[in-house]
Amino acid sequence: MSDLISTEPATGDTLWTGTSGDPDAAIIKAREAWPAWAATSVVNRVEAVQRYAACIRADAENLAELISRETGKPLWEARTEVDSVVKKIDISVDAFAQRTPQRQLPSQGNMRAALRHKPLGVLAVLGPYNFPAHLPNGHIVPALIAGNTIVFKPSEKTPAVGQYLIDAFAKAKLPTGVVNIVHGGPKIGKQLTTNEDLDGVLFTGSARTGIALNRQYASRPDKMLALEMGGNNPIIAWDTDDIHSAATLIVQSAFLSAGQRCSAASRLIVKDTLYDPIVRQVKRITDRLIIDEPFAKPAPFMGPVIDNETADGLTESFLALMSHGGKPIKHMAKKIEGRPFLTPGIIDVTDLHERPDIELFGPILQVVRVGDFEEAIAEANNTRYGLSSALIGGTAEHYDKYWSNSRAGIVNWNKMTVGASSEAPFGGIGLSGNHRPSAYYAADYCAYPVVSLEAEQAKASIGIGLKDEDLGNNTEPSPAK
Ligand code: NAD
Ligand code: SIN
Repeated sequence: MSDLISTEPATGDTLWTGTSGDPDAAIIKAREAWPAWAATSVVNRVEAVQRYAACIRADAENLAELISRETGKPLWEARTEVDSVVKKIDISVDAFAQRTPQRQLPSQGNMRAALRHKPLGVLAVLGPYNFPAHLPNGHIVPALIAGNTIVFKPSEKTPAVGQYLIDAFAKAKLPTGVVNIVHGGPKIGKQLTTNEDLDGVLFTGSARTGIALNRQYASRPDKMLALEMGGNNPIIAWDTDDIHSAATLIVQSAFLSAGQRCSAASRLIVKDTLYDPIVRQVKRITDRLIIDEPFAKPAPFMGPVIDNETADGLTESFLALMSHGGKPIKHMAKKIEGRPFLTPGIIDVTDLHERPDIELFGPILQVVRVGDFEEAIAEANNTRYGLSSALIGGTAEHYDKYWSNSRAGIVNWNKMTVGASSEAPFGGIGLSGNHRPSAYYAADYCAYPVVSLEAEQAKASIGIGLKDEDLGNNTEPSPAK
């Protein structure tokens, strides 16, 4: 009987129903398939993921529509997600060669020294709901190229997109058992990740779950654990002649995908003397944003958040900031009763004694007013997270200073905090990850290096520390008389 239901956030219609899977059975299948897949040549493994990409490309519009319906994100945005899924294949082939190469090392005499990489084995991939195709794909493809087999658990909020990806691998005729799917929520995730026969977990999701996994794996240094977690990302607004562009970058950073990006700017740190023009323009642009269902015309800037529970949690968080002394600049409100469409909230939290250092994963922008640049940098770093950040405006000296002192995996200048490139490493410090960045560097956690010294024949001698050879005489010490 179905115990899982995926509901379209924009309409409330049921999109998909299914049943929780059996992680143990999926791991057995992946383990059985592993030796043959690891022994397949890289060329064949790459051809297999290229066939998968061709299946996605041929049906791109259907996948984009499915992503839009299941997440609520605008169709134009879902199309860019599908594009990232396809582009990931060539990027991963390049990354595999660059990051985990096979090469000769300097050698001496008749000896060869070689560096090669081997796959880890069976890996679990756990995905979030905000990029339900792009982010799991970002672990699965590099792991397959490296020779691992996969058990994928999509987010329980986006199972239909997860199933679509797995069906595409089947269409591409990957051998049975190489990629497996297990549907379910946190309970199934836990059962999957505690299975002894797993060689590692590649996780994208919240810091709360990531920390639980980290704890679970604390006594298991033998297992790979790659954690891509959330952020509480700062964007600093400094001197600029172009207030409109500055405000546009701030709005895009904060509210694209209805603020549901790990790299979304949630804290605007603004120079005192710029506060009025910047905040006025940010509000003005935000007031003009079209918030609508994914296929609406004209196209919306953003859709709903993922579900009603999330929308209610976010409106409560906004009210909590107000009750602790935050001054609302633009109220957050639910547009339609019973549907998770939120108008973005902007709130000045300068006077809050203790600003909560938590990820509010949605369209809330907290504003902090500062006097000088040192204060701005200190405020930007005033978080346990460290994923993405940006300086808007300022001089090259300001940027140099910010770049040197900021604590984040992305430090941009006059660019959004979001929109990370798959051709670069993507990861952060603090609670944003465990120093295993993904995207281009995903190759690093999908294989381990093996160094070999090799000669065609065994030939050896000991030059120092050896007694003369005693031809025929007993060299053992004589027994004490
Ligand atoms: P989540 O942590 O709730 O869930 C992620 C996955 O983990 C889901 O598949 C879920 O079922 C599973 N899970 C939950 N509890 C588990 C447990 N105890 N054991 C095993 N598995 C468990 O995250 P979410 O709400 O789906 O996604 C949003 C979060 O993802 C945000 O915090 C966002 O910042 C983060 N995110 C990070 C990145 C990145 O690359 N750093 C990218 C996108 C999203
Ligand atoms: C995300 O993975 O949540 C965001 C990626 C980005 O836009 O930088």
